[in-house]
Amino acid sequence: MGPLLSVRDVTLRFGGIVALDGVSFDVDAGQISGLIGPNGAGKTTAFNVITRLYTPDAGEVGFDGTSLLKTPPHGIVERGIARTFQNINLFTTMSVLENVLVGSHSLGRAVSERDALETLDYVGLGARAGQRAAALPYGIQKRVEIARALAAKPRLLLLDEPAGGLNHEEVSELGDFILRLRDDHDLTILLVEHHMSLVMRISDHVNVLSFGRKIADGTPTEVRANPDVIEAYLGSDEE
Ligand SMILES: Nc1ncnc2c1ncn2[C@@H]1O[C@H](COP(=O)(O)OP(=O)(O)O)[C@@H](O)[C@H]1O
Ligand SMILES: [Mg+2]
Repeated sequence: MGPLLSVRDVTLRFGGIVALDGVSFDVDAGQISGLIGPNGAGKTTAFNVITRLYTPDAGEVGFDGTSLLKTPPHGIVERGIARTFQNINLFTTMSVLENVLVGSHSLGRAVSERDALETLDYVGLGARAGQRAAALPYGIQKRVEIARALAAKPRLLLLDEPAGGLNHEEVSELGDFILRLRDDHDLTILLVEHHMSLVMRISDHVNVLSFGRKIADGTPTEVRANPDVIEAYLGSDEE
C-alpha cells in the first residue's frame, strides 16, 4: 500500500514567481505530517494545489492511489479531503451551527444538522451552536473552522496555521486536540504551522520548503538538526 497523499514534482508559477518548484512529498495514512518553511515558501500554495484551487504547471498529485488532478475543486471534499484556511474564513453574519452546515455544503457535501451538532459537541462548542460566529473570540473561531472541516468527514485534513494568533496555553491545548482528532477519526493530517514547538511535538514527519523548493524532510528530530533547515528557517524563527 502506498502513501495516502503523494505530491510528485509539482511546479506552479505565478508570472515570474515560482511558488512551487518541483516539490515532492508523501503523507502516509494515519500520520500527522508537518509542512514548514519561511513566509512565502509555498506552503499555502501546496494546500491550494492539493485542494484543486490551483492546477500545477507540472507534476502530479495522487490521493489514495489515483490522481487528484482529474478531480474538480468541488469534488475534493467528496474524495475525502477537507481544510482550514490561514485567515479565518467564516460567514460573519451566521451562527456557529449555520457556518458548519453552510460551509460544508459549499464544500460540496451536505451535512445534517444532527451531524453538525455532534461535531460541535465533539470539539467542545456544543453550547455555542446558536451564537454568531464573528462575535466569538479568535481562538474559538479557529475551532469552528476545524469543526466545519471535520463535519465533512474527511480522511485527510489540511490545517493551515491553526495556531496562528493563539496564546501559549491555547497552542498547547491545540496540540493535544489535533492528536485526539487524528486518533478518534482515523485522520491523516497535513499541518502547516510556524509554532515549532507544536509542529515538533505532534508531527510524525516534517517536510521543509524554502522559496518553493523542498530543502529537507525527516522526523522532527532529524529536521531540527538539519543545517540547511537551521539556516533557511529555524535559525531566525524558532521559539
Ligand atoms: N494567487 C497568487 N498570485 C500570485 N502570487 C501568489 C499567489 N499565491 C501565492 N503567491 C506567491 O507565491 C509564493 C508562495 O506563497 P504562499 O504559498 O502563500 O507561501 P506560504 O504559505 O509558505 O507563506 C509567494 O511568493 C506568494 O507571494
Ligand atoms: Mg501560508
